[in-house]
Amino acid sequence: MYKILSKKPLNKTVTQMEIEAPLVAVKAKAGQFVILRVDENGERIPLTVAGRDVSRGAVKIIFQIVGATTAALDAKSAGEYITDFVGPLGVPTHVDGISKACVVGGGVGCAIAMPIAQELKRLGANVTSVVGFRNKDLVILQDEFRACSDKLVTVTDDGSYGEKGNVTLPLKQMLDGGERFDRVIAIGPLVMMKYVVATVKPYGIPVTVSMNPVMIDGTGMCGGCRLTLVRDGKRTTKFACVDGPDFDGYEVDFDEATARGKMYCDFERAAHDRACNLFKNAGGAQ
Ligand SMILES: Cc1cc2nc3c(=O)[nH]c(=O)nc-3n(C[C@H](O)[C@H](O)[C@H](O)COP(=O)(O)OP(=O)(O)OC[C@H]3O[C@@H](n4cnc5c(N)ncnc54)[C@H](O)[C@@H]3O)c2cc1C
Ligand code: FES
Repeated sequence: MYKILSKKPLNKTVTQMEIEAPLVAVKAKAGQFVILRVDENGERIPLTVAGRDVSRGAVKIIFQIVGATTAALDAKSAGEYITDFVGPLGVPTHVDGISKACVVGGGVGCAIAMPIAQELKRLGANVTSVVGFRNKDLVILQDEFRACSDKLVTVTDDGSYGEKGNVTLPLKQMLDGGERFDRVIAIGPLVMMKYVVATVKPYGIPVTVSMNPVMIDGTGMCGGCRLTLVRDGKRTTKFACVDGPDFDGYEVDFDEATARGKMYCDFERAAHDRACNLFKNAGGAQ
């Protein structure tokens, strides 16, 4: 059992928690994730390690409440326990040798982008962060990004905070203005990452994207998280849990990944409705 050391809402739908998991805290690197279960009948879900405090054995997770399991996790309080917390999993984000980086985060993808921006800064890189949200109420982690970025641009779809537009707008303006980066690292919804890749491609700058397919075992055995990379017309199957979650943005077949991501929508909606009824009847969240 893993103790919830702290819990803090970052906005109405995003919660930050620290979980007591000293072995994960010692080993985790930026870009890695854990797979957790809230209780013994619960499903496994992957969440990125958003930070760690080795002295307290604490691992920070930041999650958006989107369905049954994240709602069940959010219903827990500090001092309570969750059943499993396995990690660190996945390949750490490649940050060595980058002197100038642009980290692009969309929505809760910013929780995954933030530790990468922090690690790049720690290694001495010049970091530009471009973060986007639908509106002001959904903006998170501004202080954290400000602290690790030489330049921070925040955009919202409706212009209610920062500049109006999506993340590709300031990115294109910077590139058109002659700004160059050793690498762009984009993390967010598939459609956002696809358009970041298309925006950066004409400038020949390498792009890393962080893929978030459904994961089950997290060990490369079940095939749930498979995706296709295309290089020189040759298609190769990879598993995001062991080969990723980071991949070369120019190689990912985003259309296939999007189609696969929609496969379980009906099932997830039903599970979410069941969980909401459960919490409502128990007088809890939702
Ligand atoms: C490597 C990785 C790191 C992630 N890190 C974060 C993070 O730091 N913060 C965060 O808010 N979210 C993160 N996610 C997404 C998170 O795992 C899903 O939001 C979560 O599993 C939703 O579960 P649910 O039961 O609440 O929702 P559901 O209603 O079951 O699903 C809602 C959506 O979440 C995704 N999802 C559902 N089950 C899984 C699963 N087992 N594996 C992956 N995706 C799933 C699907 O896109 C689905 O449409 C990450 C995903 C991956 C693959
Ligand atoms: S989650 Fe099973 S192969 Fe990746």
